[in-house]
Amino acid sequence: MGQKVQGTEDLLGGYMREWEHMLDVAREVFSAYGFDAVETPALEQVDTFVHGIGESTDVVRKEMFRVVSGALLGDLLAAGTESRLKARQRLALRPEGTAGFVRAAVENNLVPQGAAPMKAWYAGPMFRGERPQKGRLRQFHQVGVEVLGASDPALDAELIIMLVEFFVKLGFPAESLSLRINSMGDAACRPRYRASVRQFILDHADEMCDDCRERAELNPLRAFDCKNPACRAVMEGAPLVTDNLCEDCGAHYAQVKAYLDEAGIAYAEDPTLVRGLDYYTRTVFEVDVEEAGVGAIGGGGRYDGLVELEGGKPTPGIGFAVGFERISLALKALGRTLETPPAPCAFVACTPDARGAAFSATRLLRAAGIRTEQDYQGRSLKGQFKLADKLGARAVVVLGPDEVAAGGATVRDMQTHEQVLVPLDQLAAAVSSKL
Ligand code: HAM
Repeated sequence: MGQKVQGTEDLLGGYMREWEHMLDVAREVFSAYGFDAVETPALEQVDTFVHGIGESTDVVRKEMFRVVSGALLGDLLAAGTESRLKARQRLALRPEGTAGFVRAAVENNLVPQGAAPMKAWYAGPMFRGERPQKGRLRQFHQVGVEVLGASDPALDAELIIMLVEFFVKLGFPAESLSLRINSMGDAACRPRYRASVRQFILDHADEMCDDCRERAELNPLRAFDCKNPACRAVMEGAPLVTDNLCEDCGAHYAQVKAYLDEAGIAYAEDPTLVRGLDYYTRTVFEVDVEEAGVGAIGGGGRYDGLVELEGGKPTPGIGFAVGFERISLALKALGRTLETPPAPCAFVACTPDARGAAFSATRLLRAAGIRTEQDYQGRSLKGQFKLADKLGARAVVVLGPDEVAAGGATVRDMQTHEQVLVPLDQLAAAVSSKL
């Protein structure tokens, strides 16, 4: 028997309805803020992620699933190494949605140049080869939003406000959400800050783990996320980005906070929040539900250099993404659920001689948009009622010789057990009123 890949999940039954509910809420909340839905491929060229997310990030170095088709496998074996393949032959499953979205916007000439910003939202599976554990999967589902073409700090604040609103509409009490924010600086001030953290790690190299020593060269800011207690203790003394922002970045960050304060959004400043993707500049943020212990349920930030890295003209951008599986777990930990009841349905039951009339009545109800079930196994009337009950039908339409003779159908309300005989042209309305 086949088995699912470790770290993947099937979305079935109520769990699938949780995902669908999240999509419904996303559409409702994000469209009020002017976002349109987009979909980009789950399969992209490796370069899209290398350019965008950054060659030295864990996501690109260790977690990206490379894809080799049967036809390409021969080329790969002949080339001996992936780097000898052409860019169009080096493929990966997307570990996140932002780089692919920006690639699509650049390739389709949709990057606004001085015009109104482009706002888009998306949802779908993402793939990261992480060690699976609770809330950490290899295929997980994100809902994300992106805005290209505006650097106004009001937009940063607005997106954070929209994110909180989304979580509240999904069922999180506002007090359960812990929002952390930071500013990562920009091309003017970040390189200098990065160099000072690198130097700090080198100065403390003998107290830190091998990974952090490697990080000093590759990606020094990631040392803030090291789980090793000794490294954590050392990093408490490291220079903080917020003490090293240039004047413009400092002013931008102050404005974001002022807008959040005005909107009454609770947040904590965390100058060690560095995020795992290299494209971020200035504002970054993450949301956790501390009681749930599943890690961040959402995060994002500004990426003013990413459009250029993906081959477009310099254009500011900002966005966030949330993780479906973690949201589902976190709500359960709070005694809540994303799950919605199945859609109400009707059931058409019949005696054997009225099978044809039942077939037509089922078609009639479905044409009126009513979710309708019938029996395909030749059950007795009693058996059909049992099945209707099991399916949660709110109304059962009964067709027997009397109904056929009268040119109508009996509609039974499954809650009150009331029955009425209605003419066929009033059947859909009579059933609808019970659902
Ligand atoms: P991220 O923080 O890497 O950001 O992922 C966003 C969310 O996806 C996380 O907060 C988490 O809920 C969920 N997530 C990430 N990895 C896993 C995993 N292995 N298993 C389960 N859930 C996971 C991004 O992906 C950025 N693209 C967000 C963004 C959009 N920034 C700007 N625009």
